Amino acid sequence: MKLRRQSFLLGAVLFGALLGGYGCKDKAESPSGGGSGDKPGTKTETTTESKGNSVTGDTIKIGEYGSMTGDNSTFGISTDRGIKLAIEEANAAGGIQGKKIELVSEDDASKAEQAKTVVQKLVSSDKVVAVIGEVASSRSMMAAPICQGAKVPMVSPSSTNPEVTRKGDYIFRVCFTDDFQAVVAAQFAFDQGFKNVAIFTDVKSDYSKAFGELFGKKFKSLGGKIASEPTYQSGDVDFKAQLATIKGSNPDAVLIPGYYTEVGTIARQAREVGVSIPLIGGDGWESDQLVPGAGTALEGCFFTNHYFVHDGTVEPHVQKFLDAFSKAYPGKKPGALDALGYDAARVIIEGLRKAKTLDSVALRDAIADTKDYQGISGKITLDKERNARKEALVLKIAGKEFKPFKTYKPEQVGL
Ligand code: PHE
Repeated sequence: MKLRRQSFLLGAVLFGALLGGYGCKDKAESPSGGGSGDKPGTKTETTTESKGNSVTGDTIKIGEYGSMTGDNSTFGISTDRGIKLAIEEANAAGGIQGKKIELVSEDDASKAEQAKTVVQKLVSSDKVVAVIGEVASSRSMMAAPICQGAKVPMVSPSSTNPEVTRKGDYIFRVCFTDDFQAVVAAQFAFDQGFKNVAIFTDVKSDYSKAFGELFGKKFKSLGGKIASEPTYQSGDVDFKAQLATIKGSNPDAVLIPGYYTEVGTIARQAREVGVSIPLIGGDGWESDQLVPGAGTALEGCFFTNHYFVHDGTVEPHVQKFLDAFSKAYPGKKPGALDALGYDAARVIIEGLRKAKTLDSVALRDAIADTKDYQGISGKITLDKERNARKEALVLKIAGKEFKPFKTYKPEQVGL
């Protein structure tokens, strides 16, 4: 009996917390329409309008949620390396106003529902003043309303779907959006002489769907043709039927705006069924598991990305990062996700330095003011939509390596 009562209580608390997240979201998006679910006399902390979280103890808590395990675990693991490096550096330099930063990390196991649950915990139990995450747009979009409702700024290092930061004024990102990235991919494909391209989209991914659509729109506006548009779902393992459709539509290249997890298998099967044309992708291909998954099937193929460590001379602040990185993670080279994780954490740390008071509301305002911050992934100025405007790279796959091939500035694609 006692046990049952406890689990009922736990269930009620969890359910209340989830409802709280949604209730707050409604209020944030339509200030006059509040009151959702509030019953007189039963007001709880999560259903009243949040005042944000303040620093109360001797550490400043920042939350991180990411795919440390599950389908896209390399995304979470790489990002985490960059975040930890930035926080360790800030603490070694004395912290903020004499307080050390404490990172509270949560694994969402690459699942959108879990992202929501762990972010709810970060904002309501750990009372973090900022949240870093996620990489995958679908998971960022699930968790953003919780941060928005709790008045805790969320900074995504690398989610590119345009909708992510439209979830509210507490939601930021330090990367460009797919309004730009997908347009770059289309311009690049066209510049390479491809006039007829098939688009193979993951319909379970918000990133993939928007990328495919935005690419198609730009490619057609340039005078290109879309040969066919089959779809798959993350988790699928057999892509042969769709690849036969693609082959039958006779394209010059195939855009696969997916994650490395499926792209390797798709590439192998494409070659098996005789699709031997170039495959093009976006930042979702970025993983040290991409080539191992594909074998030689992606040799000579291209994908757009945020950042690349150049051999040779780099700017002094990048060299400092590279030295610190190789000291902290011997034998590893930072990729785009390491760099973006580092930049997301640094933007929050700079915000903490400038914030009028040490709480999540003042921190939001300080982050919103980010201007000309010298990031590792490029200079970061957050615009009114809380996005960063940066260059995009096109990388070419050569053996196990990614090689920089071309760069596009927003101006070069009419933005
Ligand atoms: N941009 C991807 C998304 O929004 C995530 C991603 C970024 C993956 C960078 C790898 C590298 O879902």
